[in-house]
Amino acid sequence: MPDHEDDQGLDEPDDDGFDDELDDEPRIPPVEYDGERLQKVMARAGLGSRRVSEELIAAGRVKVNGEVAELGRRVDVVHDRIEVDGALIGVAPGLVYYLLNKPTGVVTTADDPQGRPTVLDLVPADPRVFPVGRLDLDTEGLLLLTNDGELTHRLTHPSFGVEKEYLAHVDGRPGRAAIRQLREGVELDDGVTAPAQATQVAPGVVRLVIHEGRNRQVRRMCEAVGHPVQRLVRTRIGPIADRKLKPRAWRPLTTDEVRALERAASPGSTDPRGPGPSRAERRAAASSPADETDR
Ligand code: URA
Repeated sequence: MPDHEDDQGLDEPDDDGFDDELDDEPRIPPVEYDGERLQKVMARAGLGSRRVSEELIAAGRVKVNGEVAELGRRVDVVHDRIEVDGALIGVAPGLVYYLLNKPTGVVTTADDPQGRPTVLDLVPADPRVFPVGRLDLDTEGLLLLTNDGELTHRLTHPSFGVEKEYLAHVDGRPGRAAIRQLREGVELDDGVTAPAQATQVAPGVVRLVIHEGRNRQVRRMCEAVGHPVQRLVRTRIGPIADRKLKPRAWRPLTTDEVRALERAASPGSTDPRGPGPSRAERRAAASSPADETDR
C-alpha cells in the first residue's frame, strides 16, 4: 500500500508497484466500505432484476434516506433507508443477520469469564450482535447472530416452535424402538420431550428435528434412549441451511432468508420450516384461490 500519510514523497519515484500517474492525484484517505450498488441491493431484496431496479431508480421512484436516488448511487444496507414508491424495502436499516458455522471449542456467549474464544470473536464487532439461542461448547454447526431483538425473541421462544435440525453421531446403532421413542417423546428430568422427527440416516447417525430449545436437549434425548452423542452438528434453523459454509465461516443472511425466518417465526405460522405455504396450505389453496400476502 502507498503510504497515504507521507505527503513529502508525492513526487518522488517509487517502486511500490502502483501506477505512478495515480501518485499525482490528491491523496484520499482510505475508505473501508463504500457500500453496494443500489440496484444490486434492490434486486437482492426481490424487487426484480438489476435492470428493472435501474429503471425504477431512473424513474425517480427510489429514495435513499428520504432523497430521490440517482443511478450509480451506492448504499450501505446497514445504515441507509431505502424506499421504493414510499415503501421500505428489505431488511430494516441498522439490523444485521449473520449465519455462522460454529466450530467446537467456541462458547456461545457474549463474554466468557474463563476467557475462552466466543462466537462473537468470529463475526464483525460492529454493529454489536448477539447469538440467537445457544449451541454447546462441543456442538458444531449453524448459529444465527443478530442485533434484531424482536426476531431473536421469536426464534428462541418455544411458543413459536421454529424447527432446528441436528445430525447426531451416536454410540451404537439405534434400533426401531429407540427411534420411535425419540419421535414420540423421551422422559427427561425436566419433563417429556415434544414429538420430534427422528431418522437414522446412516448407521449410528440420527437426524433429529426438534422445536423445543431445552438445555443440551439432543444429547440428553439420545443418552436417554441408550445412545450417547459423540458428535453433534446443527444443520438447519427453520428455513435456513447452508452445506457450503465452512466451519468458522460466516455470511450475512440474504433479504429473502430474513423474510423466510420472519415468516417461520411469526405467530400462527403453520410451517416452522420456512417460506411458502405448507403442503396442507397448498392443498387448501388449490381448492379455494387465496391471496398470499408477503409480509
Ligand atoms: N442440543 C444439544 O444437546 N446441544 C446443543 O448444542 C443443541 C441442542
